[in-house]
Amino acid sequence: MLSKSIEEALNKQIKIEGESSQVYLAMASWAEVQGLSGVAEFMYDHSDEERMHMLKIVKFINERGGHAIVPAFEAPAIKFGSFKDMFQTLFEHEVFVSKSINDLVHISLEERDYATHNFLQWYVAEQIEEEALARTILDKINLIGDDKGGLYLFDNDVKQLVGQIDNTAI
Ligand SMILES: [Fe+2]
Ligand SMILES: [Fe+2]
Repeated sequence: MLSKSIEEALNKQIKIEGESSQVYLAMASWAEVQGLSGVAEFMYDHSDEERMHMLKIVKFINERGGHAIVPAFEAPAIKFGSFKDMFQTLFEHEVFVSKSINDLVHISLEERDYATHNFLQWYVAEQIEEEALARTILDKINLIGDDKGGLYLFDNDVKQLVGQIDNTAI
């Protein structure tokens, strides 16, 4: 059985994962209208992953006798500046998500809720992967600089990264 405070903290994480999904969906749409089909594909895929992260928490809360609440989501931005700015935003967003997961782990230990602590380990590992992937992409972008031909190649390249984020089923 979940304590009220753990249930509340997990419900907050539902909102964070859901909003992540919305942000990446907005990025996908923006990239698509810019003609960056590879980047768009990557972002659509990433958006799906974040929805899956959200669903995992919904099911976990309900399985443990709590009630997962589906919240209203903050509307994401419409435009994201340059594609470098966009990936910088993605990276910073993932760092923010990692912090929120760390806080959750901390609460689960404080409350000696080892089942929740165990459940959260998947998210800890996932955040390490996602931050590393975002860093790799930013390094590539820095190599390209303002070169248009490089951007074309990058757009193709980023397609290879689709599906590299963990696809573990719920
Ligand atoms: Fe996530
Ligand atoms: Fe993420």
